[in-house]
Amino acid sequence: LRPPRLAGKQIVITAGPTFEPIDPVRFLGNHSSGKMGFALAAAAVDAGATVTLISGPVNLSTPKGVTRIDVTTATQMYSQAMQCIEACHIFIGCAAVADYRVAQPASQKHKKNSQPLSLSLIENPDIIAAVASAEHRPAMVIGFAAETENLATYAKTKLKTKKLDMIAANLVAQGKVFGSDQNALQVYWPDGERQLPLAPKTRLAQDLMDLITEHYHAKDTT
Ligand code: PMT
Repeated sequence: LRPPRLAGKQIVITAGPTFEPIDPVRFLGNHSSGKMGFALAAAAVDAGATVTLISGPVNLSTPKGVTRIDVTTATQMYSQAMQCIEACHIFIGCAAVADYRVAQPASQKHKKNSQPLSLSLIENPDIIAAVASAEHRPAMVIGFAAETENLATYAKTKLKTKKLDMIAANLVAQGKVFGSDQNALQVYWPDGERQLPLAPKTRLAQDLMDLITEHYHAKDTT
């Protein structure tokens, strides 16, 4: 049994995809089953933390002891995340947030007419970057990077530009990670890295939570 090293600490985790409406029946979205984020929430509860899970649309049951907030769009996830961070010690962004939303979703179902369809897209807020730059920023902000190539370079760039304390990078080429029960992570922080080899997401979540806990306690936080 692991000692409750995060007792009294509040952790907020985002998980799953976001769906951005095109019309009342269609949406734009990213792949994500929510398994990785939900496993992290369970691991954080096991470590003794108080856990809030902000989840996009997924078919998973809520891990025991977790407070779950369901959202659909990136804008909703952003506003829930910003409301949760004041009392938060550790924030983990595992959600596959859609980077763009449709500027003006149609109020009625779009009818096909054999013509090309153009959608005007606007950029969604970057949730993890906003959390990491907030005035009352959690002591640790951890992001994920889902890449199909150049894993280390792209992840390290995100670590820096989004002002994160740590980033867990996974190669998502050929649909290997989305929905799977297994994953492998390459974890980077400003002056170090650790490889977490292929393992069940439940195990990987525990290992990542151990690493986060180590860094959190090394940061001289209260
Ligand atoms: O859910 P599973 O099926 O188990 O799959 C797990 C996973 C592949 C979804 C997960 O391990 C993962 O990689 N999640 C992050 C997916 C992602 O959107 O990565 P990204 O490289 O596009 O984004 C980088 C970081 O910015 C992420 O922490 C993301 O949550 C965050 N982000 C991105 C865009 C945005 N508008 N707001 C954000 O907060």
